[in-house]
Amino acid sequence: MAANKPTPTPTPTTPLTPTSTEPTHILFVGAGAVGCFYASRLHHPSQNIYTSLTARSNYSAIAASGVVLQTHSFGNYTFWPYAVFPSISAAVPNSSTPSTNHASSSQTPPRHGWDYIIVTTKALPDRSDDAALIAPLVSAKSCIVLIQNGVGVEEPYRKRFPQNPIVSAVTVVSAEQIKNGVIRQNRWTRISLGPYGTGLATPPSSTAKSAEVVQRGYERMEQLKQWWNKYGGIRDVETHTELELQTIRWHKLCINAAFNPTAVLSGGRGNADQLTDPELREHITGIMKEIWSAAPKVLGKPFPDNLAAPDRIIRSTERNTGARPSMLLDWEAGRPMELEVILGNPVRIARAAGVEMPKLQSLYALLRSMQKVREDKKATEKL
Ligand SMILES: NC(=O)c1ccc[n+]([C@@H]2O[C@H](COP(=O)([O-])OP(=O)(O)OC[C@H]3O[C@@H](n4cnc5c(N)ncnc54)[C@H](OP(=O)(O)O)[C@@H]3O)[C@@H](O)[C@H]2O)c1
Repeated sequence: MAANKPTPTPTPTTPLTPTSTEPTHILFVGAGAVGCFYASRLHHPSQNIYTSLTARSNYSAIAASGVVLQTHSFGNYTFWPYAVFPSISAAVPNSSTPSTNHASSSQTPPRHGWDYIIVTTKALPDRSDDAALIAPLVSAKSCIVLIQNGVGVEEPYRKRFPQNPIVSAVTVVSAEQIKNGVIRQNRWTRISLGPYGTGLATPPSSTAKSAEVVQRGYERMEQLKQWWNKYGGIRDVETHTELELQTIRWHKLCINAAFNPTAVLSGGRGNADQLTDPELREHITGIMKEIWSAAPKVLGKPFPDNLAAPDRIIRSTERNTGARPSMLLDWEAGRPMELEVILGNPVRIARAAGVEMPKLQSLYALLRSMQKVREDKKATEKL
């Protein structure tokens, strides 16, 4: 199999353009809605691009039947990844273990390591240090890509992997896993990519080394754009500078930090429904305005004109009836919510830049407490 052919060990600066003899191995960590959808559009054995998945609760379903995709954009199909692993540790390349020892060569992590590790778990830094979890997967040639909501998600990865290129990604997609191994993409495909350097507090060009890491981020990002676009049929893959991508992350908070927490705290109301209540509408507008005013102070630049202002976001949300945010679905299912990256990090990052965000802070305090009380109660019931 091509993926088991020996490949030269690239130096960190080697651009990874696949050739007929040099496969590219991409591992998605987190085989949920976003991971399976974008992985399925990146797997192109004919181009020597091999995509694998690290699954968890849905491992057996995917190992048995592949990933069944019901998509608005590409129709219905089954995606058979190059390999699916039941855990992160099972995906750790171990060059001392010859692949011929494995019963199935398709389950062997690539001997020369992962070229891309794409993290598509929910971002829950209060629950698990995912940067530490993926550390055994990362080698000098690995580019780490984070497709997750919120702000500040890259920081733990940059701290742990100072020499690896990091690509930060924001997606506008509506996808869900409707049962184990079955993913439904309801609409949209857009993915915005940007390199991540040393964070906005330290300009990435401050040292030759960090500038070089960012440069490699640019190269890897362009490669991903080309593959998703040319082979995966995703027309709206966008590439950005580090600052532009961080601006998109803060802009997306106008939706995620406004509607998601409010959906839970208002007793389960969807986004459009929230806007039919005058008091909730005023509250939503106030949160968006708070972000609109704070973000430029954090980023050092106002939001550009091409990003929708609060009134436009509100008008388009009103048309999107029936949408229920993921934070509400997580709360209703008893799962942890992405509170730190959507509320806690923005409040802390803004505070460090000398800006208070009292509305976000209130939402954060209330939801964090609701989650804690429920979990304490569950723990007591188990005793
Ligand atoms: N879905 C959307 O439409 C959408 C749109 C825009 C942005 N996003 C963002 O994209 C990110 C991913 O969202 P999602 O909807 O794809 O979430 P999801 O469907 O819950 O998928 C996350 C997957 O990660 C797995 N996982 C978590 N920790 C793991 C570990 N240590 N090892 C292996 N697997 C692990 C989970 O496994 P288990 O099932 O076992 O927990 C789950 O399958 C989030 O930040 C979300 O906010 C989602």
